[in-house]
Amino acid sequence: MNIYCATTNPGKLKEFGLIVAHYSQGRITVESVPGLKAVAAPEETETTFAGNAAIKACYYSRLADGPVFADDSGLACDALNGAPGVYSARYAGEHATDAANNARLLAEIAPHSNRAARFVCAIAVAEQGNTVATFEDFVEGRIVDEPKGPYGFGYDPFFYYPPFGTTFGEAPPEKKLLVSHRGKAMAAMIAWLLLR
Ligand code: IMP
Repeated sequence: MNIYCATTNPGKLKEFGLIVAHYSQGRITVESVPGLKAVAAPEETETTFAGNAAIKACYYSRLADGPVFADDSGLACDALNGAPGVYSARYAGEHATDAANNARLLAEIAPHSNRAARFVCAIAVAEQGNTVATFEDFVEGRIVDEPKGPYGFGYDPFFYYPPFGTTFGEAPPEKKLLVSHRGKAMAAMIAWLLLR
């Protein structure tokens, strides 16, 4: 069985491939939506991760002849009232780099002693313009001042995960996928796909 994936984020694409191979034991393959890069991306106008995932999945499902999934994910910090939240990818402005987003995160959180934060991931599956399922999960950690680790992407080097005793940046991808917001939401989607 194949499922189409609606993302151009290379960090996410790599994780999706690994997660699907792990949880479906080779029974599901993931391909990018055909022609994804040739069409303008839809605006992510919703205020929730699930809402934005549905916008992307529905929009791109018109380009594919089978189910399409899209995720919307981000970091929510308690001391920042849930920011950067759905604005995680553009926290330092449209098309901001990971480095710029991380610099803003550090500047905003510096005065706060409460560093509790969670990564959240919502996944929507759509067919021919309609959402047919959504899945959501999260992982709790805290924000540290110094980046650590060569792995991952985005805010990973600043996200300390107590059960590992390291940041996500120090966790190899096969280790991160077992506990991450994206790994758990994807596992639920895969279980659903295999039962269909
Ligand atoms: P999206 O592509 O609109 O869903 O934006 C997701 C953004 O949230 C990414 O660009 C990262 O900045 C951040 N993010 C989401 N998941 C992760 C993760 O697993 N590690 C690090 N950063 C993440």
